[in-house]
Amino acid sequence: MTLVLDGAAMARELLNELRGRVAQLAQRGIRPGLATVVVGDNPASKVYVRNKMRSCGDVGVHAEVRQLPGDASQADVLQTVEALNARTDIHGMIVQLPLPRAIDAQRVLQAIAVKKDVDGFNWANLGALVDGHPSLAPCTPLGVMRMLDRARLPVEGRHAVIIGRSSIVGKPLALMLIARGATVTVCNSKTRDLAAFTRSADILVAAAGRAKLVTADMVQDGAVVIDVGINRLPDGKLAGDVDYEAVKSKASAITPVPGGVGPMTVAMLVANTVSAAERLNPS
Ligand code: GUN
Repeated sequence: MTLVLDGAAMARELLNELRGRVAQLAQRGIRPGLATVVVGDNPASKVYVRNKMRSCGDVGVHAEVRQLPGDASQADVLQTVEALNARTDIHGMIVQLPLPRAIDAQRVLQAIAVKKDVDGFNWANLGALVDGHPSLAPCTPLGVMRMLDRARLPVEGRHAVIIGRSSIVGKPLALMLIARGATVTVCNSKTRDLAAFTRSADILVAAAGRAKLVTADMVQDGAVVIDVGINRLPDGKLAGDVDYEAVKSKASAITPVPGGVGPMTVAMLVANTVSAAERLNPS
């Protein structure tokens, strides 16, 4: 029997745990606050932002959106970030990606205060992760690690193969898996004979952004398959990077899309916001 890793249920469990920490902060008059800066009106971003707001609301975390027009200047965006950096009632901040092309995304992301960088994209936070001392780390890789742990799937000594080398998912996840003693291979869209690598994976993570890239012949019997992809098909449905039905029969554990890694990413963002509020207000 293949274990289906229910990200929605695991996310609910994590949010329940966070309620207790939010209550403790409330006793000290502190309500964690998350600000999301959105520039323009990317339809996918709207869905993500709505989900983030709802999850924050569920556990008593204040959430607000600073919506800027699509033609906002770099200076406008930087000013918005600086203003949020200065607010004591905002403990976490994210700038929703993608940003319009006219905006230098790196300059904006690096302007977020390190202690409020709940996406974990700031170079200071990424550097801490490289050295095995993370404080605020990217939410999707954190969510993947939590799913593996909740399902008691061993990591140490296992061969983990990641398809995707982004700074948001592939690279930070590789660092987290390395820290836990996995042997890690990071592939990308140009990897020659990708299947030769994926077939040797005990843990296979697909984060390439290509629908049904991972087919059953690319998966070793009994592998753990984690699907980070969220692709919109021409018929409007969502599909991961994994050919779910075919791969499920070979995997020992697999994440569905939707209802897998996605909800965990959102829950981890709320967790990072609560952690940031605790660290900014040491008792
Ligand atoms: N857009 C898609 N994923 C993400 C994410 O993890 N963080 C931000 N800020 N924007 C995104």
